[in-house]
Amino acid sequence: MKVTVVGAGAVGASCAEYIAIKDFAEEVVLVDIKEGFAEGKAMDLMQTASLNGFDTKITGVTNDYSKTADSDVAVITSGIPRKPGMTREELISTNAGIVKQVAENLIKNSPNVTIIVVSNPMDTMTYLAHKATNLPKNRIIGMGGALDSARFKYRLAEALGCPASDVDGMVIGGHSDTGMIPLTRLATRNSVPVSKFISEEKMDYVREETKVGGATLTKLLGTSAWYAPGAAVSAMVQAIACDSKKMFPCSCLLEGEYGLNDISIGVPAIIGKNGIEEIVEIELDDAEKAKLNESAEAVRKTNGLL
Ligand code: 2OP
Repeated sequence: MKVTVVGAGAVGASCAEYIAIKDFAEEVVLVDIKEGFAEGKAMDLMQTASLNGFDTKITGVTNDYSKTADSDVAVITSGIPRKPGMTREELISTNAGIVKQVAENLIKNSPNVTIIVVSNPMDTMTYLAHKATNLPKNRIIGMGGALDSARFKYRLAEALGCPASDVDGMVIGGHSDTGMIPLTRLATRNSVPVSKFISEEKMDYVREETKVGGATLTKLLGTSAWYAPGAAVSAMVQAIACDSKKMFPCSCLLEGEYGLNDISIGVPAIIGKNGIEEIVEIELDDAEKAKLNESAEAVRKTNGLL
């Protein structure tokens, strides 16, 4: 299993580190445009191999896509992160050109690759990658819902006063401060609906804090988060590499599912060796359906800026 991670910044390097520590891939190639940066990150990570006990080989290259040839999975994290007070959508003018070129370079060298897009505005960048590569729709996935759901579980566990491992919950919709939809109605604490433990008012707090989870961290850190994004996308890479058939909410190109067409947006999907193995259409109530349509309209508006 060969994985390419484009962008050796904080998210890309965290992703590479988690992949290496999980040790399911033979090789990870880190790519960056800054001279020597990916090489340095790769060498630093490889110097943890004896300490963290992994055999994965991490190499770094400066803008040389020949070294990414025949990758099975490629993660696109390149582009600029947001600064405090910015929305993800404001990054489009800089990131669209970068993501398009990266996607084209990737498939030129790895025609059978499955691409996971992280760069923001993620749903629109995922849609752009579909248009730029014409890869089969199951082989381009956007990572947003896995991260948002991890933040949702963090907030639920905080409200419940229990370990996050005891909580299950999913966020669908656009990966944006206003468009994501934490499905509190379906969230559980070890199979028991969370509504049994927390009030509607507390639930509202959890939903709102989840939606601005990225912005909250950007305010604290001065830049976008990286540990949880890196962990979320590495979990998706692992599901592809190990053909896990794990279900993640992720940005998928819809062709009628959920009544939506020609849009990439966060919905539950089974992830395995073929990338998106199946899009899962869950029963949404009227309020959730309305929110998903509203979220889709916002994503379409951003797509219109491409
Ligand atoms: C986040 O929410 C980077 O969009 C990513 O942290």
